Parts: sequence; structure tokens; C-alpha cells
Amino acid sequence: MTRPLKTFGRLTRLYQLLEVLAFGNSLAKARFAFLPDLSHCRKILILGEGDGRFLLQLHKQNPTATIECIDLSAKMLAKAKERLHTHGNPETLANLHFRQADIRDIILPENTYDAIITLFFLDCFNQDSSEKIISKMAPSLQSGGHWYWADFRQPAKGWRAFRARIWLAMLYQFFRWQTNIEATHIVPTESILKQNKLILLKSINRQAGLIRTTLFQKESKKLSRPD
Ligand SMILES: C[S@@+](CC[C@H](N)C(=O)[O-])C[C@H]1O[C@@H](n2cnc3c(N)ncnc32)[C@H](O)[C@@H]1O
Repeated sequence: MTRPLKTFGRLTRLYQLLEVLAFGNSLAKARFAFLPDLSHCRKILILGEGDGRFLLQLHKQNPTATIECIDLSAKMLAKAKERLHTHGNPETLANLHFRQADIRDIILPENTYDAIITLFFLDCFNQDSSEKIISKMAPSLQSGGHWYWADFRQPAKGWRAFRARIWLAMLYQFFRWQTNIEATHIVPTESILKQNKLILLKSINRQAGLIRTTLFQKESKKLSRPD
């Protein structure tokens, strides 16, 4: 049976403060690292958007793009909407769509989005759920579309690995206590993305490898040439 997921709602007001206290502006830098690479995207899906900080910058960059945000937490969605109504462009707000849902329960149409965005979201799930979510969502990307992913990660060796183990143990203790996420440790999300025909275009690490941002692209269908 699936473990019930308490939402992130109770952290909505403190979320930004907590991340700054723990990591300064590293998470913000990780979120926005490859934002300019999405400037051509017209139809975008954000999974687990949170409080709207990324959405606001994306909307400013791509004001005419249709952006769908799915999040389990009504409070997080309300905060995101409030942020966009306060700071966004009123003329293009109609391009934004918010949906409260558990990502594990929804089915989306195939070949639809130019970009799927998961920022500090997939680390909430165990390996089985991560595999199911990615394999379910990848077909919704158009050929040549981008999957933009940032998360915590475990470096392989040395002092970086030691430091990350301590941070990750503390982070999972905290988030499992506060939100009852199902994950107990980091899963190899990049490998799962690659297994789903996504190709790594670029990446950047922060906080001694504890935080990583990547831009993947779905394989383009090759045009068959006449002989
Ligand atoms: C750690 S926060 C990350 C928020 C934001 N993307 C960021 O960069 O900080 C995880 C977000 O995913 C949402 N979430 C967690 N489990 C979910 C699920 N099963 N379905 C949809 N959203 C979920 C939470 O409500 C929360 O807003």
C-alpha cells in the first residue's frame, strides 16, 4: 500500500527561510542555473512547484508560454498564485494553470510539453515511485523537449561524500518528520532519466557536489530519408 503523504503545507511560510539558513543562496542558484535554456519553450509542466519562486521567473522570461503547475499542497499552490498575482504580469496570468494533485495518480497526454521541470521534487520519492513517475511523464515530453531537474545528491567518495551523508541524513529526518515523504534516502534519479531516453546536455554542481542541476533532452525522432 502507498504510504499516505502529508503535504508540505505546514512549511509554506518557513520554506524559503529554512533553505537560506541551511544553504545560503545555493538552492536559488541551482533552480535558476539553466533557466535561459528554456526561453524558447511554449508549453511547460512544473511538477512540485512549491511556493512559486521559480514559476515567477519562468513566467517573466516566457510570458506567453502556457505553464501548468501540479502540486499536492493546497497551501503551496495558494502561495504560488499569490506571488504571481502580486509580482507577475496581469496581462499574461491567464497562461498559468494550477492543479492540486498527487503526481502518482495522474495521467497526462503524450507528446505535449516542450519542458518538464522537477526542482527539489523527485527526492521526495523512493526508487519505485521515482521510476514510475519518470517513465509515466517522459512520454508527455515532445521529441527534443527538455527535462530540467535539480536535486540533492550523494557524491561518490572522499570528504564530499562524508559531508553529504551527514546533510542528507539530517534533511531526510527533518522532511520525513514534517511532511511524511516516502523517501528515506537519495535515489539515482539521473540514471532513471537516462533509462527513459533522456540525454544529459549540461550539468552544474554546488555545495561540494551535494546539489546538482541538470538539463536533459528527449531524443529527437530521426527523419527517415528516401533512398
Ligand atoms: C521540497 S518541495 C520543492 C518545491 C520547489 N520545487 C523548490 O524548488 O523548492 C517539494 C514540493 O513537491 C510537492 N509534492 C510532494 N509530493 C508530491 C506529490 N506526490 N505530488 C505532487 N506534488 C508533491 C510539495 O507539496 C512541495 O511543494
